[in-house]
Amino acid sequence: MCGIVGYIGEKNAVEIIMSGLHRLEYRGYDSAGVAVIHNGAMACVKSLGKLVALDAKLEENTLAGRIGIGHTRWATHGAPSERNSHPHFDGPMEIAVVHNGIIENFQELREQLKSEGAEFRSDTDTETIAHLVRKYYTGDLFAAVKRALADVEGAYAIGVIAQDHPDLLVAARHGSPLIVGLGAGEAFIASDVPAIMKYTKDVLYVEDGHVCAITRDGCRVEDLHGNPVAVTPSHVDWDEAAAEKEGYPHFMLKEIHQQPDVIRNTLRGRVEEGSDAVSFPDMNIAEEELEACQKIVIVACGTAWHAGMVGKYLIERFAQVDVELDLSSEYRYRDPAVPPNTIMIPVSQSGETADTLEAIRVAKRKGARVAAIVNVVGSSVARESHGVIYQQAGPEIGVASTKAYTSQCTALALFTIWLAQIRAQMTKDEAQGMIAQLRELPDKMQWILDHQEDIVRCANDPKYRDAQSALYLGRSYNFPSALEGALKLKEISYIHAEGYAAGEMKHGPIALVTEQLPVVCVAVQGDTYEKMVSNIQEIRARNGTVLSIATVGDDRIRAHSDDVLYVPACPEPFSPILVALPVQLLAYYIAANRGCDVDQPRNLAKSVTVE
Ligand code: M6R
Repeated sequence: MCGIVGYIGEKNAVEIIMSGLHRLEYRGYDSAGVAVIHNGAMACVKSLGKLVALDAKLEENTLAGRIGIGHTRWATHGAPSERNSHPHFDGPMEIAVVHNGIIENFQELREQLKSEGAEFRSDTDTETIAHLVRKYYTGDLFAAVKRALADVEGAYAIGVIAQDHPDLLVAARHGSPLIVGLGAGEAFIASDVPAIMKYTKDVLYVEDGHVCAITRDGCRVEDLHGNPVAVTPSHVDWDEAAAEKEGYPHFMLKEIHQQPDVIRNTLRGRVEEGSDAVSFPDMNIAEEELEACQKIVIVACGTAWHAGMVGKYLIERFAQVDVELDLSSEYRYRDPAVPPNTIMIPVSQSGETADTLEAIRVAKRKGARVAAIVNVVGSSVARESHGVIYQQAGPEIGVASTKAYTSQCTALALFTIWLAQIRAQMTKDEAQGMIAQLRELPDKMQWILDHQEDIVRCANDPKYRDAQSALYLGRSYNFPSALEGALKLKEISYIHAEGYAAGEMKHGPIALVTEQLPVVCVAVQGDTYEKMVSNIQEIRARNGTVLSIATVGDDRIRAHSDDVLYVPACPEPFSPILVALPVQLLAYYIAANRGCDVDQPRNLAKSVTVE
């Protein structure tokens, strides 16, 4: 998704903007640009492709200024090209705009503006905003932006500067993420905190419908009607190093290795040492509501949906509540039945996923209470939900979600223990036992990270590394592990991969089995182990290549498998949290061996803020 960075202060705006844009590269983009005001004149440089191309152009074409805006574009309207890259301008090129989101009525606005004499230079929806601001501009940029936005339908986060106003940066938000950073004698705008954390940790999360007049001395906020809005900045705890790779070749690998600490963090503050009591201070759903709850609906996308599936299995088994799991993009359009006493649990790392936000709105309109599991504090999902369980996983930069997944599964496990006790489905002793097992997971994860040799060896083995396609099978709690393993492999290595419930194998996918098809079988100890072994034997009988993921000490499975990756013993309901590591690492090393851009896979964006 697009990334925005803006600056006003006494330093070199271009340097700060480019450094911020580099920090937002994880969001995915296809072109970039920067505009500044210098000596009373607007200047701009744009480039197609990665930021290194823009860096090179900037070296030739030195831009200077103390105020500016920059952008990385992920194409929605108009092909990736230099002319479609941001910033976009009004007719005389005196007003510059960067935008993240989609203007839904842009065709209508474009026709209207053209009929009034505007000449467009791009195919983008964004350019309409620049012409609209010009249309309403009578010397007051802040007023013109507010008036222009009143005509706009859709989602936006914008930054606007004007040649006549070298001391003013205007920003606004409706449906796309935007923050304002406040420093001493300087201020910033950005799509996300890592872009500016090098300069300030005092951050204002801009709310939908708010417009900001930003100067070197601070930020004034009004709604679109000009009513003043009181705002309080937050202090961000993440340190700068948290957003860096810390010596790993990729963010993804760093984030995989962070998982033992991440799980400790997710548990932190929720369970006391030696206690059976779970508490979620921000959840904001009363125990009586949980007691009365008839149905839980979990909505999410991608990896978060797989975590949601682990949650469904846990909640149904231990709390005995009916759980409906849906993809947010399906839920929002299918006019779902929402009976009284329904609780929705949206799951989202970024908290900005457009479909998940809309699913929340649908459920709220129909009377559901919404308690979200979210990583990014202050994100849209967190703010639009009645309550929230923060994952406490720290920033996830790699496009492929890793630590967010295991932390979502852990948060759902904790929620299950809490809910099961409230609904008298679990005794204090049982709860204490399960919490103790959760607490053991970080050390077990560390064991996997300390014993990666077999994973590295398999990822180097041509039968896996050079495969055209792969199948992942799992049952029960590890059906989501199979889905997640396949998603990880396909998204970063571009090997086609399918995840299946192993019980479905004979209903279709077995037709694919040949020597050339690696089948990753999750066969950890538990209720479905013997069934998995039968599946494995059926694959081997057809000359399939089997890579099993099994429990340490299980030597029997070696006889049935070409290779085995081991995870420490753990109760089956929590095993997906461990199995996630070998499937993530296998995908990572295969992708790295194939020379793929692991952190920014082609066509993918970290945060899917448009449909
Ligand atoms: O930010 P979210 O958790 O809402 O994102 C959901 C998906 O877009 C995300 O998990 C995506 O599938 C990742 N690329 C998976 O690695």
